[in-house]
Amino acid sequence: MIVLGIETSCDETGAGVVADGRMRSNVIASQIDLHERFGGVVPELASRAHVMALDPTVDRALADAGVTGRDIDAVAVTAGPGLAGALLVGIASAKAYAAAWGVHFVAVNHLEGHVEAAFLHDPSLRPPLVALLVSGGHSMIALMTGHGVFEVLGRTIDDAAGEAFDKVARFMGLGFPGGPAIDRLAKEGDPGAIRFPRALPEAAYDFSFSGLKTAVIRWLREREARGEEIDAADVAASFQEAIVDVQVTKTVRAATETGARTVVVAGGVASNSRLRSRMVQACAAAGVRVAIPPPLLCTDNGAMIAAAGARTLALRGPTPLEAGAVPGLALGVPA
Ligand code: KG4
Ligand code: ZN
Repeated sequence: MIVLGIETSCDETGAGVVADGRMRSNVIASQIDLHERFGGVVPELASRAHVMALDPTVDRALADAGVTGRDIDAVAVTAGPGLAGALLVGIASAKAYAAAWGVHFVAVNHLEGHVEAAFLHDPSLRPPLVALLVSGGHSMIALMTGHGVFEVLGRTIDDAAGEAFDKVARFMGLGFPGGPAIDRLAKEGDPGAIRFPRALPEAAYDFSFSGLKTAVIRWLREREARGEEIDAADVAASFQEAIVDVQVTKTVRAATETGARTVVVAGGVASNSRLRSRMVQACAAAGVRVAIPPPLLCTDNGAMIAAAGARTLALRGPTPLEAGAVPGLALGVPA
C-alpha cells in the first residue's frame, strides 16, 4: 500500500509518501519568509502560496520516494482543522490526483496526522497511549485507545502552547515563528532565573497559557520602564520552563492515572528541545514509555498525513469525492 499525503492546512505545503507504514519521502515548502514580515500567518497569502507550491512539492515527494503516480494506491489530504482557503487548495489537488490516477481519495484529520507521526517513527508503538498534542492552534492531552479513537482529557482554556511561544517571541522581537527562536535563545539562559506562574495546577489536565504570556510581557515592561538591563536568554529559558513544566507534569500524570503508561508528544511544539528532554526524563522516572517523532515529523508535513491516510483507509475505506474542508474538525472526529 503506497499512499501520497498532502498537507496545506496552515503555512507549510507538505507532500510525503508512505509505503506499508514506512516513510519514503517527506518534502516541505515552507512559507515562513512570506509571513515573517506580518508577524503571523496571513490566510489569503497562505492559500495563494499553496497553489504555487503544491505541484512541485508533490513531484519532488514522488521523485524522492522513487515512485510515479502509477505506483500510488491512495491520495490522502488534510481536510481539517485548519484555514478554510488553505485546506481547499490541498483537497482540490488531492481529488484531481486521485481522479487522474484512478486511485482512492482519503480525507484525513490533521490532529490525528500529528499523532500518527509517532507510529511512523516507531512502528512498535501500540495504543492505549496518552498523546500530548501541542501546536500553533491546539494544546490538548488525549487518551488514544485505538487508531482514530480518542478521548480528550484536557485542553487549553485560552491560548495554544505554540501561540504563547509565538506571542512572547513577537513581543521580545525574536521574529516568527517564535517557538524555534525561543528554543534557540533559551539554550544560553537559566531556566530558573525568573519564576513565572504555572497555571491551573489544580485542574487535572486542562492548560492555560494566556496568563503566563501576560506575566512575561508585564515583567519585561516593568524592567523597561525602570531602564533595567534584561537578560533575554534568561527570560526565554524561564518562560519556556514554565510552559514545559506544566505540560510534562500533566502528561505523565495522565499516563499513570489512565494506566496507559505510554506517552506520545506530537505537533509543532513537540520539536521543542527542552520539552523533549524533560519529557524523556520524567517518563523514565515514572516508568512510562515515551515516543517523540523527530522535529521534521512534529511540525506540519505530508508524511504524517500519508500515514494517517493509510490508517483511515484501512478503518473506514475511501472518502467520497463530495467531501469538503472542515476548518473546525475536532480530534477523533472522522474528516
Ligand atoms: O504543528 P505546527 O507546525 O502547525 C500547527 O498545526 O499549528 O505547529 C506550529 C507551532 C508554532 O506555534 C511554532 O512556534 C511551534 O509550533 N514550534 C515550536 C518549536 N518549533 C515549532 N515551539 C517551541 N519550540 C520549538 N522548537
Ligand atoms: Zn499541525
